[in-house]
Amino acid sequence: MKRYKIKSLFAESPLDAKVQVSGWVRSFRNDRFIAINDGSCLKTLQIVVDPDTLASEILTSVTVGSAITVQGKLVESQGKGQSIELVSNQLTVVGKADSDAVSKTILQPKRHSLETLRDQAHLRFRTNTFGAVFRIRHHLSYAIHKYFNDRGFFYIHSPIITGSDAEGAGEMFRVSSMDPTNIPLNESGEVDYTKDFFGKETHLTVSGQLEAELGALGLGQVYTFGPTFRAENSNTSRHLAEFWMIEPEIAFADLNDDMDLGEDFLKYCVSYILNECNDDLQFLVEREINEEKSKPQNERNELNLRERMELVVGNEFERITYSDAIEILQRSKPFKKKKFKFPVEWGKDLASEHERFLVEKHFKKPVIIYNYPADIKAFYMRNNDDDKTVAAMDVLFPGIGEIIGGSQREERLDVLKQKCVDFDIPEEHIWWYIETRKFGTVPHAGFGLGFERLVMFCTGMGNIRDVIPFPRTPNNAEF
Ligand code: 4AD
Ligand code: MG
Repeated sequence: MKRYKIKSLFAESPLDAKVQVSGWVRSFRNDRFIAINDGSCLKTLQIVVDPDTLASEILTSVTVGSAITVQGKLVESQGKGQSIELVSNQLTVVGKADSDAVSKTILQPKRHSLETLRDQAHLRFRTNTFGAVFRIRHHLSYAIHKYFNDRGFFYIHSPIITGSDAEGAGEMFRVSSMDPTNIPLNESGEVDYTKDFFGKETHLTVSGQLEAELGALGLGQVYTFGPTFRAENSNTSRHLAEFWMIEPEIAFADLNDDMDLGEDFLKYCVSYILNECNDDLQFLVEREINEEKSKPQNERNELNLRERMELVVGNEFERITYSDAIEILQRSKPFKKKKFKFPVEWGKDLASEHERFLVEKHFKKPVIIYNYPADIKAFYMRNNDDDKTVAAMDVLFPGIGEIIGGSQREERLDVLKQKCVDFDIPEEHIWWYIETRKFGTVPHAGFGLGFERLVMFCTGMGNIRDVIPFPRTPNNAEF
């Protein structure tokens, strides 16, 4: 007998066929109707059993949460709410769930807050919301690989353990095999890292960019897709200590090419989900509408999840310089009425409230801000001729803020060396990076997309902890 996933059963609807299905019980009504879900899709399959022909000890074992395998005949459903159902008189309980224990968990069929679900992250895959979120997360990663593969990019695996701080922000987690109760010191009383595993100081990487640049300077166009780590102590709904980043890097390209790639790439990913994940997306659209009923009117989204996604796909992103952004903000109502908490001043970084004003109130579509002041950006960004700004760009999304950060890279050896001095980066840490500028250097550019921020955008989840299976945040590394 063929074993079907519930998704294929609904897609193929082989009426009158004898089929086998396995899944977890979501509900059991009137000793007759069992709803099971197997994770392949949002839908549950209704199993119709005849209580007179099944052994009573089997029936009492079919509790919410239990894993069962059923065999039976697929028929058109008599009842409302589903097109097909499985009439079965052969049911095996694979793993019984203890009802008392279940009643203390999120498997209990009732509404649970997202906080409660987070506390039981080991079980939340079984819920409709997280099933939908993690299926969409999967399809997004597939779409990303497909996008780059179809366009001749090569996937390179940048190292997770690194001896350099690519972003220069000093927010790194140390990697060491030294005994913390017996750290070797050198003659001047400093930690002697030559005694450590790698014979030098090492950390978890904050970005695969520097290595991606090396790849692009031989393979032409590459991308990374891997975990990155930041020990920034910011407990916000948009920051994780461990997150996944996609970093394409293209040779013979400038900032305009970089912005074009970023915009095209984001539109592709969002439209992929609109086309491929209709059921899960519809569920999340309705979920958000329900959630928002309890919020005051002015905190609700003007557009629903699907409309926000369509807005991204259907509009050209606004491209403005950092200087223009500052001017727009300084002319804005919230600025004049002193509603912004953080200062708006040329040379200062934009705060999330400023980014959201530009995207959600002023332009009402995604915005790319480029040519930022050199002082607030990383050492590797290419100096512009004005000597004040660098060829950097950030892509800002409604409801999310910064989703992509990128730049054209400083390819001129002398300028790069001077920037290392200015940014206090010892050349011996990144001699290999600098060396590429000696041998056939070319203009090149790239960016980093925060994968979880894209998943947030495509699921409507408001907290980044709810789009990664096991979030890592300050004081939280459970599971
Ligand atoms: O802007 P960032 O710091 O840029 C880089 O790391 C560059 N090396 C990228 C490049 O040019 N190749 O980070 C890129 C993106 C941000 O726009 C944001 O979406 C995401 O990574 N990000 C985070 N996501 C979750 N939690 C955090 N703590 C994040 N920090 C950055
Ligand atoms: Mg950034």
